[in-house]
Amino acid sequence: MRAKIIGTGSCLPDKTATNEYLSTIVDTSDEWIQSRTGIAERHLVSSETETSLSMATEAGRRALSDAGLDPKDLDLIIVATVSSDFITPSLACMVQRGLGAPHATAFDINAACSGFLFALNTVDAYFQAGIYQNALIIGVETLSKIIDWADRTTCVLFGDGAGAAAVTASEEGMIASLQGSDGSGGDILLCKSRSNNNPYISTSKEPGYLFMDGQEVFKFAVKKEPECILSILEQAGLTVEDVDYFLLHQANYRIISSIARKLKLPLEKFPSNVSHCGNTSAASIPILLDEVNRAGLLSKGDILLLSGFGAGLTWGAALLRW
Ligand code: ACO
Repeated sequence: MRAKIIGTGSCLPDKTATNEYLSTIVDTSDEWIQSRTGIAERHLVSSETETSLSMATEAGRRALSDAGLDPKDLDLIIVATVSSDFITPSLACMVQRGLGAPHATAFDINAACSGFLFALNTVDAYFQAGIYQNALIIGVETLSKIIDWADRTTCVLFGDGAGAAAVTASEEGMIASLQGSDGSGGDILLCKSRSNNNPYISTSKEPGYLFMDGQEVFKFAVKKEPECILSILEQAGLTVEDVDYFLLHQANYRIISSIARKLKLPLEKFPSNVSHCGNTSAASIPILLDEVNRAGLLSKGDILLLSGFGAGLTWGAALLRW
């Protein structure tokens, strides 16, 4: 049995911050941001009740409702995030409580922007092993809390939000999967955790903010993602022409269009929401999937290729039949 997505959902904060608004906070401009990234605005949480947990739970509820699945029938909940509200318990456990899914095993995955794909591939492996029948996968981020809002090189790029997919074990669905990691590139995109304060070592350092070497990440993305796409298609014995839609991690429209160019494909095959969401890391692919699904763009039998890259470094892809 393989993983088949049977419902999608998403939840974005009500408030958006436009490029014009950010240019009142840091030395930037709409022209600079749009030309370098394609981002016009991003959603940001704006109250203490809008959290990773609240967005993840709502996105999960919407995906279950779209699938017609009762939370009580869930065996597994995986949340992909790097910006949980808690160090422990996992966000997935808190979502399980919020949804009322007492039979679901729940845990989080930290693979940054590839997190949703790592979670989908994990669910698929469970299903192939005959373990579990119904799963909920959520990608959620409140990146705005780990961004330095005085650093124009990062603060204009990211947004908050959650996306989710309800998945069932089926004869059809997932065709192939791929994932990888390279810790030697860990320093080009990182956010350190709190420092130690035990009886032997005490540092007064504040937890840092997200650091990114943008040009190195850009180079990594435009090399690794096409490789990933061609490799998963080869695994499945398919070609780029067989794919109806490429749903890529929404980091930067220049990266997406460079990949389309490299693959010699029209941009229409690459739906994008980066202009209004920015980069929402682990949430970006499931939010996009939900938007495409709700817009009625997908037909039964369509071949979708999901692919992303992120901190770690990590990368992943999933090829599936809708
Ligand atoms: N507004 C105005 N000027 C800016 C801004 C800004 N927001 N940010 C940087 N600049 C300036 C720099 O200071 C620099 O000025 P200088 O020439 O006087 O030194 C100039 O613009 C050029 O800076 P670069 O960093 O060279 O700009 P670049 O063209 O490389 O674009 C960007 C930067 C958009 C970050 C690009 O490198 C990129 O897209 N990288 C990939 C980022 C990415 O995909 N991140 C996601 C990673 S994975 C994940 O999702 C977590």
